[in-house]
Amino acid sequence: MRVVTIVGARPQFIKCAPVSRELRKKHEEILVHTGQHYDYGMSDIFFEELSIPKPDYNLGIGSGNHGAQTGAMLAAIEEVLLKEKPDWLLVYGDTNSTVAGALAAAKLHIPVIHVEAGLRSFDKRMPEEINRIMTDHLSDLLICPTETAVANLKTEGIVNGVYHVGDVMADAVLYNKRRASLHSKILENVGVSKGQYIAATIHRPSNTDSKENMESIFSAFAKSGKMIVFPIHPRTRKYLAEYQIAVPENVHLIEPLGYLDMLQLTANAEKVVTDSGGVQKEAYILKVPCVTLRENTEWVETLNNGWNKLINSAESNTVWQSLSETITPGDWLPVFGDGHGAESIVDILDRHS
Ligand code: UD1
Ligand code: UDP
Repeated sequence: MRVVTIVGARPQFIKCAPVSRELRKKHEEILVHTGQHYDYGMSDIFFEELSIPKPDYNLGIGSGNHGAQTGAMLAAIEEVLLKEKPDWLLVYGDTNSTVAGALAAAKLHIPVIHVEAGLRSFDKRMPEEINRIMTDHLSDLLICPTETAVANLKTEGIVNGVYHVGDVMADAVLYNKRRASLHSKILENVGVSKGQYIAATIHRPSNTDSKENMESIFSAFAKSGKMIVFPIHPRTRKYLAEYQIAVPENVHLIEPLGYLDMLQLTANAEKVVTDSGGVQKEAYILKVPCVTLRENTEWVETLNNGWNKLINSAESNTVWQSLSETITPGDWLPVFGDGHGAESIVDILDRHS
């Protein structure tokens, strides 16, 4: 069976690593990188660290407004599909690369498999929510990471081809956790000790594109007095400069990290503060309390027993309090699966070929 896989943004490289490894044991995979992320630290480093095969195509689309970026991907992916004539198209998550891939394939009657189907924040101001809804409605096989995702699809009338296999990000964490603790020197490099710092990532437009929210977040960071290690997404760096926000002394801004360093930084943090979908999950899987600077989350399971807390970024004092307090969550359940999601996905594909 020939499968064209579309990736383009950082979390998709991480998700595709375990699935590609399993898929290629039995099938032919043609890997297409849209070029949505292109800096070494946002792209190549993940291919090297996670031994992801070199993409067969790099479409080099790069950054742009939503329409221009997604449209350019759509046209370029269509050309690849016309040439390669795959049996399936595989997409991950909820980025512009995801929806462009699904739409290109669906129009050519190539069946689509969507890994991380059924997630909903019920907030259409998020570009990802639009991408999720469209991709799910174009897909033939919908691979859900959680039971909530299955229920969300049912509500929208999607019941055929829906499978709950757990989250492939759990596969990646469990596969790489030991490697990270053996090889990463991030704590030494930054000069922090286990449990003595907060790990931060911010990149959602709801935060970066609002000067008020960014000022509120950085002022809460300053007031907390805690050591905050913040590998900064290029989008966030751009806005920080534009808004001329001074970086407080206790905030250690560093370049985006490779996956092993990021796992090690998260696993050893007192807590995590983020707006990332993947980082919320990883904090949960690694049993590290999380503060999410958003009004909603599609990863509702992380909120159980206080492992994750949603905080409105505009309310600086509430952000500050959540950083300063000690969070002691309750029971932990393996809601993201057992780390064998990728094997299940390949079994499902086999049954449908
Ligand atoms: C994208 C996804 C988002 C995902 C995130 C993962 C969409 C709509 N958004 O957001 O769902 O959570 O990736 O990180 O698909 N840039 C660089 N170098 C790069 C990549 C980006 O400098 O290698 C800068 C550019 O200024 C660019 C900006 O970051 O304009 C935003 O990049 P883009 O891919 O459009 O969206 P993300 O915010 O990264
Ligand atoms: N990540 C990383 N380096 C960083 C920040 C994040 O490797 O500097 C990883 C993180 O561990 C997770 C994934 O990137 O696996 C999450 O991607 P991101 O936050 O960019 O996007 P989202 O999950 O919100 O779509």
